[in-house]
Amino acid sequence: MTRFPLPSKDTPVTAQIIDGKAIAARIRQELAAQVETYVASGGSRPHLAAVLVGDDPASAVYVRNKERACQQAGMLSTLHRLPASTTQEELLTLVQQLNSDASVHGILVQLPLPKHIHETSILDAVTPLKDVDCFHPENVGLMVQGRPRFLPCTPHGCQELLAACGAKVDGAHAVVLGRSEIVGKPMAALLVQKGDVANATVTIAHSRTRNLAEITRQADILIAAIGKPNFVTADMIKPGAVVIDVGINRLNDQLVGDVDYPAAIDIASAITPVPGGVGPMTIAMLLKNTLRAARLQDNVD
Ligand code: GUN
Repeated sequence: MTRFPLPSKDTPVTAQIIDGKAIAARIRQELAAQVETYVASGGSRPHLAAVLVGDDPASAVYVRNKERACQQAGMLSTLHRLPASTTQEELLTLVQQLNSDASVHGILVQLPLPKHIHETSILDAVTPLKDVDCFHPENVGLMVQGRPRFLPCTPHGCQELLAACGAKVDGAHAVVLGRSEIVGKPMAALLVQKGDVANATVTIAHSRTRNLAEITRQADILIAAIGKPNFVTADMIKPGAVVIDVGINRLNDQLVGDVDYPAAIDIASAITPVPGGVGPMTIAMLLKNTLRAARLQDNVD
């Protein structure tokens, strides 16, 4: 694991920097080999269909990165770009077409969708066997019950980072800051499971939590997914905690996380940078799910 150079002579860096970019690259390489083995044995070449509605520049970058990662792993990807004026009916029609297209194994509808589209209705329309985001209630239910079909990409990526940095999760107090459907809730569900990189005592804290700093300071593992730049300050972190920063916020033309990184680096035992921490892992886990989707539809799993 990389150790960053000291930022100044006075402030020794103590935290291990968790290099998500390198860890994700290794996983993607392993996946590429698995894809070739699978195809050589007669399996379908995994095919992801990505749907991008509107022209949010950040979403366009994310989707392009996902497509490129698919191709580098030997998977097929098709991007469906729709204008911001697309109606809910039109989007539903596309999702239904992709559901019944046997050449498509995974469907990803990039979020956020334009305001006039009811997001939940669209996500619920994705057939569960192609739901590589693990957003469908059937897949969320299976995951919460500990018998997952797919694992949610960002929380699974965080779990892999905890494994990679050697964090002791078993019996630890993990505080998940944020209660979103994409990160906070499924993250807590994964960490509380029986199993590897799990068995944690989990607290979900959020914007309405009283005495928030008091709670985050109890965290052996702190997962920040609240979507507010530099929200987690030094006084909110227990010395020696492992800090996973899921935030990607634009602040004065810079990307920053939810954690005040320069301050946290002297307190945490390990921390993810932004960018280069959780982000690349989300994509690697999406690819894992896409291979799994191909296997499911080939009736191999
Ligand atoms: N927008 C931000 N994160 C995600 C994600 O994990 N999946 C999708 N589909 N959209 C997102």
